[in-house]
Amino acid sequence: MQNDIQEVLYSEETIQAKVKELGAAISRDYQGRNPLVICVLKGAFIFMADLAKNITVPIALDFMAVSSYGNSTRSSGEVRIVKDLDSSVEGRDVIIVEDIIDSGLTLSYIIDVLERRNAKSVHVVALFDKPGRRTADLNADYTGFTIPDAFVVGYGLDYAEKYRNLPYVGVLKPEIYSN
Ligand code: PRP
Ligand code: MN
Ligand code: MG
Repeated sequence: MQNDIQEVLYSEETIQAKVKELGAAISRDYQGRNPLVICVLKGAFIFMADLAKNITVPIALDFMAVSSYGNSTRSSGEVRIVKDLDSSVEGRDVIIVEDIIDSGLTLSYIIDVLERRNAKSVHVVALFDKPGRRTADLNADYTGFTIPDAFVVGYGLDYAEKYRNLPYVGVLKPEIYSN
C-alpha cells in the first residue's frame, strides 16, 4: 500500500467487479443504440477505460475536461470547461462517465451544457457517490458505490494531482492534506 494511504476502502478486485456490473447494466439498457460515452477528465480516465471494455453495444467515445476543485479538497463551486468535446452531441444518446459525485455542481453544469446542445438523452454513470455533500439536485442513473464524506484518492481520484494511478481507492492520512 502507498505510504500516504491510511486505509484501503475499495480494493482493485472490488472495483473491477463493480465496473463489470455497471458495464453489463449499460449494455442491457442501450441494446440497439449507439451511445456517445463521455469521460469527464481527469478523474474519470481510468474508470472510463475499464468501463468501456465492459460495454458490449457499439459506442463512440469523447472527452471533456472540467475543473472545479483545483488543488483544494473542497469544491470552489466554480465550474469551467478546460477541454471541450470534439464531437457533436445533437440527437445522440449520451452517457457521462464520472469518477465521483460530491456537491453535484460539476455534473449539473455538464448536463446543462449537453442538453442545451440538444442531446437526445443524457444519463450519468458514477463510480462513487457522496450524497451527503450534495448541493445540486442531481443523481446518477448508474452508481457504483455510495460512500461517506471522507477524502478518498486513487483509481483516477487525486489530491493535488497525486494518487490518480493507484489501482484501489483509499483514505489519505490526514497529515497529508492538513499541512
Ligand atoms: C472531481 C471529481 C468530479 C468532481 C466532483 O473533479 O473528479 O469530477 O470533482 O465534485 P462535485 O460533485 O462537487 O462537482 P476535479 O474538479 O477535482 O477535477 P479532476 O477530475 O481533474 O480531478
Ligand atoms: Mn473530475
Ligand atoms: Mg480532482
